[in-house]
Amino acid sequence: MTMTEPFGVYVHWPFCLAKCPYCEFNSHVRHGSIDQSKFVAAYLSELDHFGWLAPGRTVSSIFFGGGTPSLMAPETVGAILDRTAELWTVAPNAEITLEANPKSVEAGRFAGYRAAGVNRMSLGVQSLEDASLKSLGRMHTSEEALQALAIAKRNFERVSFDLIYARQGQELEAWRDELTRALSHAQDHLSLYQLTIEPGTPFAALHASGALIVPDGESAEAFYLLTQELCDAAGLPSYEVSNHARPGAESQHNLLYWRGHDYAGVGPGAHSRITQGDGKHAIAIRKSPEAWLDAVAASGHGVEQDERLSPQNSADEYLLMGLRLSEGIDVKRLKAIDERKLDDARLQQLEAQGLVRRTPGRLRATDAGRLVLDRLIVELAA
Ligand SMILES: C[S@@+](CC[C@H](N)C(=O)[O-])C[C@H]1O[C@@H](n2cnc3c(N)ncnc32)[C@H](O)[C@@H]1O
Ligand code: SF4
Repeated sequence: MTMTEPFGVYVHWPFCLAKCPYCEFNSHVRHGSIDQSKFVAAYLSELDHFGWLAPGRTVSSIFFGGGTPSLMAPETVGAILDRTAELWTVAPNAEITLEANPKSVEAGRFAGYRAAGVNRMSLGVQSLEDASLKSLGRMHTSEEALQALAIAKRNFERVSFDLIYARQGQELEAWRDELTRALSHAQDHLSLYQLTIEPGTPFAALHASGALIVPDGESAEAFYLLTQELCDAAGLPSYEVSNHARPGAESQHNLLYWRGHDYAGVGPGAHSRITQGDGKHAIAIRKSPEAWLDAVAASGHGVEQDERLSPQNSADEYLLMGLRLSEGIDVKRLKAIDERKLDDARLQQLEAQGLVRRTPGRLRATDAGRLVLDRLIVELAA
């Protein structure tokens, strides 16, 4: 790690208006009002702690994720950004993203976020079909999502949105039509996620009982390959398994995770990777918002776990993240993390199977390889 490497700040806002039945993010619904001033004080205090753990860095990206950060008051966002700039140098061209849910989009608040310094918006559209939005438990219609997108485009120079595909009962040709429409509304970045059945969610119970059937196996592959084909043709190729951008418009914050750089994560359930004198640390913050507030009040931060990663763990993590990227991994960087060499015979085998491709200094997963990424990583990490 050098001081000039990218460094990110992640801020987790743990509340939503309603819990979507597929979602396992650390998000909670509170029926009373949330005292944001208490939260502001806690975020600032936890940021101070990370300022002390990772001094002297230049912040290249900041990401407000959730939960639904578009429920934050613009003053809350502003206070966090101001403190970040007091603790570190924020690069003049830093990417500052906020995630929004179309149901909590309000033009006035968007202008407030912009004024506070946010310059990129990521909107959770999920689908352009009203029936699908309903079965995903979303509270907005596709019309409302498109209105929110228009408001976002008026306020921010960079706007991305999320869609979920391979949904219950979805036909491939219907996805072709929906994604084609979505691409006509896209600016230069889209996140396209295949519906994942997350353990412990209401969708997992429905799936287990047979009441919810989603495309899998070859059918899921067909969805993935069609997604690549349409996005490539529209000039938004994938730069990561689920993320598509016009070349040059990739999310810098996302790239930072997958390229294995350091970041400080504050707020309930946030994770960090911070390189210190003795190596890289994986730090996790406690998840319950109320327990987090108490912990911060008592000790200035809500750190629940701080584990020093061995070079081997760090290298495995870099492989796991880096092979999700179209650019793949930098073999020199991998070797700098962990002296071990990638097993040449195994690489040759995987290359012969069409799962990886080697170019000088880099190793990539092919489209076929990305479809079996978990297996690939197990083989490479072994
Ligand atoms: C934190 S949410 C985005 C912002 C906001 N909370 C919203 O939902 O509008 C992150 C994204 O992850 C995706 N996501 C969440 N759970 C998923 C699942 N089980 N399968 C696929 N995508 C999922 C959704 O596309 C969602 O927009
Ligand atoms: S998908 Fe977004 S809005 Fe829905 S529960 Fe998860 S974080 Fe909240």
